[in-house]
Amino acid sequence: MRKEFLPFSHPSIKEEDIAAVVEVLRSGWITTGQKCAEFEDNFCRYTGCSGAVALASGTAGMHLLLHALGIGPGDEVITPSMTWVSTVNIIVLAGATPVFADIERDTLMVSGDSIRECLRERTRLIVPVHFAGAPADIDSIRQLAERNNIFIADDAAHALGTEYKGNRIGRTGTAIFSFHPIKNITTGEGGMLCSDNHGLLEHVRQLKFHGLGVDAYDRFTQGRSPQAQVVTPGYKYNLTDMAAALGLSQLRRLDAFIKKRTALALRYRERLVEVDEIMPLADPLYPMKHAWHLFIIRLDIDKVGLSRDAFMEELKKRNIGTGLHFRAVHLQKYYQESMGTRRSMLPNTEWNSDRICSLPLFPDMTIEDVDAVVDTIKEVLKR
Ligand SMILES: Cc1ncc(COP(=O)(O)O)c(C=O)c1O
Repeated sequence: MRKEFLPFSHPSIKEEDIAAVVEVLRSGWITTGQKCAEFEDNFCRYTGCSGAVALASGTAGMHLLLHALGIGPGDEVITPSMTWVSTVNIIVLAGATPVFADIERDTLMVSGDSIRECLRERTRLIVPVHFAGAPADIDSIRQLAERNNIFIADDAAHALGTEYKGNRIGRTGTAIFSFHPIKNITTGEGGMLCSDNHGLLEHVRQLKFHGLGVDAYDRFTQGRSPQAQVVTPGYKYNLTDMAAALGLSQLRRLDAFIKKRTALALRYRERLVEVDEIMPLADPLYPMKHAWHLFIIRLDIDKVGLSRDAFMEELKKRNIGTGLHFRAVHLQKYYQESMGTRRSMLPNTEWNSDRICSLPLFPDMTIEDVDAVVDTIKEVLKR
């Protein structure tokens, strides 16, 4: 058994990250300012998107998007139930109705076909999730959205560095990224909404800071008056310069992070061939580059006679941490009670929700760590 606990994720924070944040702390300007602007510029250069707004979280980005699109009571938003709860919570808090699309069983992605089944007259927005670092088949979903005049925004929380048919996610359309500590880069907490729709970007930029036409830095550098006028009631979802400095420093190492994540993931795949009871996810068939945010397996619970939760517990007892991405949202207490959602509505989502488990994957891990995880899995399954 491993002597030290191996967490499922751990941010890679080096001296250069610390120095970047300390520089901001010493500068006298710690909230939204030049570092945020620089982070937005470099993010655009990396993804190829034409404009981006740095925000307090990915969830904040989803909230501002719904507000900017005027989505509210009577509107429907299609998204998978196999997602983080934040998207669905925000839809409900906006007074709109989430409509859950089922996923492909072996990639966990929504498809054009599954979304088509959810289209109705009141559908206003589609939010596909690029899962685990691989891309959803965005062309087929966009075609459907365009034909029906529906807005589409990619949930790209897992997809910084992911490529779809030769382009990085975020290059076209509208996408929301997250910089939560387990993500491919982190700012502690943070997010980015990027879009090629400049009207939308400007609206989000206003909404992120009280609905003033300018943010704190503009007011400081350009004088408080007459810019500080409320143009529209807004929120307080700006990112700080301390966080942006960390993001800038991390972004410089993103390609190296992905390279390392890829090597670790390939080792998992190679070693897990030895374990019949474990089914890793499959790669989508269209051209893509995986950014390996998560390494997800499905446990053959019928064969091993052990629930997924018990399996995770056994690994924990042996000093291996795991994650769960995700428990189906439509089976969570609030949604079952308020929407009447239940089992058998989304077969592929439910099948995976009972079996999935994310294995440790982060850039500072070693190949030996991967081997230790697989050896421990084999030991657990032998019992
Ligand atoms: C699929 C997905 N969507 C949205 C989010 C929300 O991002 P944030 O935590 O930055 O609000 C996450 C974060 O974990 C996520 O995994």
